[in-house]
Amino acid sequence: MKLESIALHHGYKPEDNQKAAATPIYQSSGFTIDDTQHGADLFDLKVEGNIYSRIGNPTNAVLEDRVAAMEGGVAGLALASGMAAITYAIQCITRSGDNIISTNQLYGGTYNCFTHSFPKQGVTVKMVDGADYEAIEKAVDEKTKALYCESIGNPLGNIIDLEMFAEIAHKHGIPLIVDNTVATPYICRPIDFGADIVIHSLTKYIDGHGATIGGIIVDSGKFDWTKEPDKFPMLNEPDPSYHGIVYSKQFGTAAFIACCRVVPLRETGACLSPHSAFLIMLGLESLGVRMERHCQNALALAKYLDNHEQVAWVNYAALPNDKYYDVCQKITQGQASGIITFGIKGGMSAAIKFIDALQMILRVLSMGDAKSLACHPASTIHRQLTPEQLVLAGVSEDMIRISVGIEHIDDIIQDVEQAIQASMR
Ligand SMILES: Cc1ncc(COP(=O)(O)O)c(C=O)c1O
Repeated sequence: MKLESIALHHGYKPEDNQKAAATPIYQSSGFTIDDTQHGADLFDLKVEGNIYSRIGNPTNAVLEDRVAAMEGGVAGLALASGMAAITYAIQCITRSGDNIISTNQLYGGTYNCFTHSFPKQGVTVKMVDGADYEAIEKAVDEKTKALYCESIGNPLGNIIDLEMFAEIAHKHGIPLIVDNTVATPYICRPIDFGADIVIHSLTKYIDGHGATIGGIIVDSGKFDWTKEPDKFPMLNEPDPSYHGIVYSKQFGTAAFIACCRVVPLRETGACLSPHSAFLIMLGLESLGVRMERHCQNALALAKYLDNHEQVAWVNYAALPNDKYYDVCQKITQGQASGIITFGIKGGMSAAIKFIDALQMILRVLSMGDAKSLACHPASTIHRQLTPEQLVLAGVSEDMIRISVGIEHIDDIIQDVEQAIQASMR
């Protein structure tokens, strides 16, 4: 099936579910076992089955299979938020003393987690510019366990040449982890370019209606964790917390995702509620048509802003004059999703007046909703960054971010225009 059809049908059979056409919500914390031996076999991971919804739930399993299929991976793990997905993916393969390398151009929450929380637990994150391949190569050492980036950076809109990144990561025997939240699988499938692990904040375009928080990790199943077994002991050494299981032996190509489920998820518990999984799947059904409209509206607004005499600059990679235009053609099929950043003449105070003057576009700090949303990153989602970190992340004081929705483009432009006029008063 093509992506549009996978989003509607994959991983679910009505005949196995009382012929219900919509995926039922299995609102149950626990599941019955046949007998004590069955329970023991489930706990030994000798047989597959549901035990307890912190570790797995049949409604969530449909979402996991669907998103994994759309991304071209072997399996997925749905979690309570995008931040949980990022944290667990990294915790699964790092120990105190290890490091990962990440691009600077990241969502503010990820930036904070990488520069404060992980280092406090002994895992350092070496930040590099996403276009500086030499700096990435130089940063790799024997304790480096992954290369991390956002396919389309939030909020900057920079696009990473994932093929180059995968080549560098694999040359050094480490996996490439890609946060594909802004792009979505409709615009880019990182695994096709060599990525090993894909992450989404499901909260954004996949839910698409601003209703639910969720995250997912997708495992490509392609990274060979056994090639340098000492580099990834968590996957290659017996795990005493699970009767000495060796994940790479027991689960083969799905070792990473199995370990994410039974170690960080089982032990720290950021599971997705099945009710949220149901809502996210409703959103996912229309992702294709929404993305088409998001991209179409965003390009029209970007062109409008680019030609506006009160606008100082615009970042939107599908504009032919954009710095990332060529990589956008290569990696994201010439589409740049729905996020536009720009500055208006008059700097930060004009940016704030602009946002405060919006009438239809909502002042919401999230993105990827069907509705258009706007924010001032430097004073909100990137507020905790130092002035130097803001420069490295590409977040200027005058930056306005619009997550362009699927309303009629005339209404979006009209609201933007009246807010630009208001910003000049
Ligand atoms: C690119 C990106 N990744 C991850 C996250 C974190 O996701 P969540 O808010 O679902 O934890 C966000 C949130 O804005 C994001 O923009």
